[in-house]
Amino acid sequence: MRRSVVEMLGCGPVSIGMVKKCLAPAVSKATSPVRTADTRIHARPRSTSSMQGYFELSRERSKTVTSFYNQSAIDASAEKASVRLTPATLLYVGKSPDGHHILSSAKYLQKELPVRIAHRIKGFRSLPFIIGCNPTILQVHELYIRAYHMLSDFPPIKDQETEAQYCKLVQQLLDDHKDVVTMLAEGFRECRRHIQNEALVRNFLDTTLTSRLGIRMLATHHLALHEDNPDFVGIICRRLSPKKIIEKWVDFARRLSEHQYGNSPRVRINGHVAARFPFIPLPLDYILPELLKNAMRATMESHLDTPSNVPDVVVTIANNDTDFVIRISDRGGGIPHQILDKVMDYHFSTAEESAQDPRMSNLFNSITNSGNQSSPMHGFGFGLPTSRAYAEYLGGSLSLQSMQGIGTDVYLRLRHIDGKGESFRL
Ligand SMILES: Nc1ncnc2c1ncn2[C@@H]1O[C@H](COP(=O)(O)OP(=O)(O)OP(=O)(O)O)[C@@H](O)[C@H]1O
Ligand SMILES: [Mg+2]
Repeated sequence: MRRSVVEMLGCGPVSIGMVKKCLAPAVSKATSPVRTADTRIHARPRSTSSMQGYFELSRERSKTVTSFYNQSAIDASAEKASVRLTPATLLYVGKSPDGHHILSSAKYLQKELPVRIAHRIKGFRSLPFIIGCNPTILQVHELYIRAYHMLSDFPPIKDQETEAQYCKLVQQLLDDHKDVVTMLAEGFRECRRHIQNEALVRNFLDTTLTSRLGIRMLATHHLALHEDNPDFVGIICRRLSPKKIIEKWVDFARRLSEHQYGNSPRVRINGHVAARFPFIPLPLDYILPELLKNAMRATMESHLDTPSNVPDVVVTIANNDTDFVIRISDRGGGIPHQILDKVMDYHFSTAEESAQDPRMSNLFNSITNSGNQSSPMHGFGFGLPTSRAYAEYLGGSLSLQSMQGIGTDVYLRLRHIDGKGESFRL
C-alpha cells in the first residue's frame, strides 16, 4: 500500500503552511511563552521555563525543516548515476508483438526516474537557505519529494496490469508537475533581493529545467509507446517537417499577437521547406512559440503608430547531415546595446517598460488595468534563457544577432538524432 506524503516524510504533518509557520517570527498562539519572554527581555533575563518553551519551539522548527533534508532513501538514490539514452536507442529498440518492448521501457523508467528526481531534490537542498525556504520554491521541492516516494514505492513491474497502473501514476505526476516552471519563475522572483550569487541561480534553473525536460521526454515517450501512430515511435517523429511545426506555432503566436495588439506580422518561411527527418517535436513545441512571440512582440511594439502595416517575420530553415538551423528574423528594431548581455538572464524582461508606453495602454487596457505586466506574449523573462538551456541540453545552441535600429536574428541550431555527429542523450 502506498504511504501518504506525511508518513513518508516521517515527522508528522509537514506542509508548506507548517513550514511557513515554523519559519515565521515566534508570535503565534502556540508560542505565547516566547512572546512573554521577549516582551520582558529588556526588564530581566528569560526564566528557565520560558527558555524551555523557546528551545522546544526551535526543536520543532528544525525538525520540520530537516525533514526536507533527512531522507536516507533519497540520499542513496542521489548517489547513483543516471542512465541517459540516445534518441536513436529509443528509435531502433524495435516493437515486439507481445508488448515486451513496453515492459522493458517501463522497467528502465522505474529504475531511472527515482534517481533523476533524487538528483533534483539534492539541487533544492543545496540552494541557499533563505531561497530554499521561499514557500513557492518549497512547494516545488515538496512536489519532487512526493514524486520520489510515489515512484519508488511502486511495486516491481512484472506484467501488463502493473505496467498499466504505472502508466496511470506517471501520467498523474506529469499533470501534477505541469506548472513547475511557472512556480520556479515566481518563487525566484519573490526572493530576488536575497540572491547574491546570480551564477548559482542560473545554474540551478538551467539544471532543474533541462533535467525536467529530460524526465518529461522519457515519461511521455513511454506513455506514447502505447499509441499506434505509424509516423511516431513514442515521442520521436520519424519524419518531422520543420516547416509544419513552425507553421503550427506561427498560427499560435499570431493569434496571441492579434489579441494583444489588434494585428500580427505575416510570417514567410523559406530555405529547406521540404526537409523531413526523425526528431522529437516536444522541445520544439516549447522553444518555437517563445522565439516567435518575441519576434512578433518586437515587430508590433516598434510599429505602434502603424499597427496595421508591419514588416514580415522571416523564418529560414537550413538542413544538413549534422544538424538543422532555424533562423527567425524580425524587423522589430533590434535589442538595444545596453541590454544585449542581459536578455539571456532569467527574469530579465522589458515587459514593464512596454506597459508604460501610453500607446500600449490604449492597446491593451485590460492588461494594464489589472496592474499585471505579465501577459501570454511576454512576462517572466524566461523565454530566452529557458529556450537556450533546452537547445544546449539537446546538443545545440541558441544565439542572437541584433542589428540595432533594424531588427534581430535568432539562430536555433539542433543536432540530428541520426546524423553524422554524436547525438544528445535524454
Ligand atoms: N526579437 C527580439 N527583438 C527585440 N527584443 C527582444 C527580442 N527577443 C527578446 N527581446 C528582449 O529580451 C527580453 C527577454 O526575452 P524573454 O523572451 O526571455 O522574456 P520576455 O519575453 O520578456 O518574457 P517571457 O518570454 O518569459 O514571457 C525581452 O523582454 C525583450 O526586451
Ligand atoms: Mg519571451
